[in-house]
Amino acid sequence: MAKYKRVLIKLSGESLMGEKSFGISPKMLKLYAQEIKPLVEEKIEVAIVIGGGNIFRGLQATDSGIERVTGDYMGMLATCINGMALQSALETEGVYTRLVTAIDMQEIAEPYIRRKAIRHVEKGRVVIFSAGTGSPYFTTDSAAALRANEIGADVLLKGTRVDGIYDSDPEKNPGAKKFDKISFSEVISKGLQIMDMTAFTLCQENNKPIVVFDIRKKGNLLKVALGESIGTVVYK
Ligand code: GTP
Repeated sequence: MAKYKRVLIKLSGESLMGEKSFGISPKMLKLYAQEIKPLVEEKIEVAIVIGGGNIFRGLQATDSGIERVTGDYMGMLATCINGMALQSALETEGVYTRLVTAIDMQEIAEPYIRRKAIRHVEKGRVVIFSAGTGSPYFTTDSAAALRANEIGADVLLKGTRVDGIYDSDPEKNPGAKKFDKISFSEVISKGLQIMDMTAFTLCQENNKPIVVFDIRKKGNLLKVALGESIGTVVYK
């Protein structure tokens, strides 16, 4: 029996690169699609926010003479490219999808209308939210927190390269201790970084739990959605 009825999955754009240094790894794209499909088969309602860091990072633009806001919009467009790729990959696996965009581009994706997006997930379609929040100065983590709240997802599942939240960086400190559960206020008091503050406080204020887990490990996503104790749960 699934623990969560409706989930919002934040997929990092960067991990879509796989072993490459830029762009989309066909192997990772397929892995994402194959990881998502079993959730739909379990009748869990799935919505996704995908990042764009494998193609373009907004902040990086400041060094290149591109204005911050322009860079952010370029980053939003990158998430649309990833969204199109993910939609195709999911459809190849036989999963029904709808690609939604926060910036109007009717030829490519349908505009974001909250009630329509909710109907899509109710009908068992995987809804991919692209173009972030549609506004500069927000990350895709913030888009994930916003959409999770808007569509009434039970949880925000944040797929990353690490298998949870540690008391220090596990990639730098081999003795770092992992938390199975941690409260929002503890994350703040310990100064831990799991997402930007805008995204984090949006979840905290609306009592939306976050699960941080390793998306690259086969079968992890389904286990997390079924409520197995994998990764770290952030709760109120
Ligand atoms: P319901 O009929 O309400 O269950 O939803 P539906 O999505 O099946 O119906 P709709 O006629 O809205 O969409 C049919 C197809 O067209 C779907 O693949 C949508 O994603 C797509 N679609 C709908 N609106 C747009 C749009 O503005 N732009 C693009 N590119 N596709 C759209």
